[in-house]
Amino acid sequence: MLGGFDLDPASSNEAQQTVKASKYFTKEQDGLSRPWHGRVWLNPPFAHGDIANFVSKLVNEYVAGHVTAAILLVHNYTDTAWFHKAVSACRAICFTAGRINFIHAEKGLAPGAAIQGQAFLYFGDGIDAFRTAFEPIGFVVEPRGSSEKHPLFYLDQAYRLIGKPVLPAGLRRHAAVLFGRAVTIQYERGIRQDEALAAAVSELKARSAGGAS
Ligand SMILES: C[S@@+](CC[C@H](N)C(=O)[O-])C[C@H]1O[C@@H](n2cnc3c(N)ncnc32)[C@H](O)[C@@H]1O
Repeated sequence: MLGGFDLDPASSNEAQQTVKASKYFTKEQDGLSRPWHGRVWLNPPFAHGDIANFVSKLVNEYVAGHVTAAILLVHNYTDTAWFHKAVSACRAICFTAGRINFIHAEKGLAPGAAIQGQAFLYFGDGIDAFRTAFEPIGFVVEPRGSSEKHPLFYLDQAYRLIGKPVLPAGLRRHAAVLFGRAVTIQYERGIRQDEALAAAVSELKARSAGGAS
């Protein structure tokens, strides 16, 4: 659905036979210490601490604009801090109906489903394409309001909406105004966060066109 992946930062030669990312990092190369970019596929190692570190890096790189879109496949551990961190920035989540199967490097398709349930978290602007691709295997939800806890993510969305993936210094003031106005609109009208942001962008554009700063 993303038209391919530019990077799989937690991978192996065997996994790439399936994922086929343009670039990937193995454990030996340590994907956590490398720059991430573009469209990312991430199914992080499940060892204690690894998931949190990889999720944190994904969110930070996405908010910074280095990662433009991503699909994160993780255990559906909705009570963990790392899951909430991921939800703070993702745009949609697919909770699968039944458990998925993984392909073992040597043995091929595993005979049984995974022992934990999984979720696919989507980062990016193509929510409709994500729904089309993932609704056949589960239900898709769009987290509402969670990213309010992360102003940086909110601002990132604002920059994208006003067509500035990298915020020029001169617009920083506008983005902060936009952020505050969008939160107010969302609160006042009880509408979705992205709708409130769009309304705030319209207001800002109208004000700019009218010559106000
Ligand atoms: C759960 S598997 C996912 C493999 C593959 N990305 C996929 O989706 O099929 C996690 C992979 O991350 C690798 N890995 C562990 N620590 C890593 C690190 N610091 N940097 C890059 N890869 C790592 C493991 O060797 C393993 O191949």
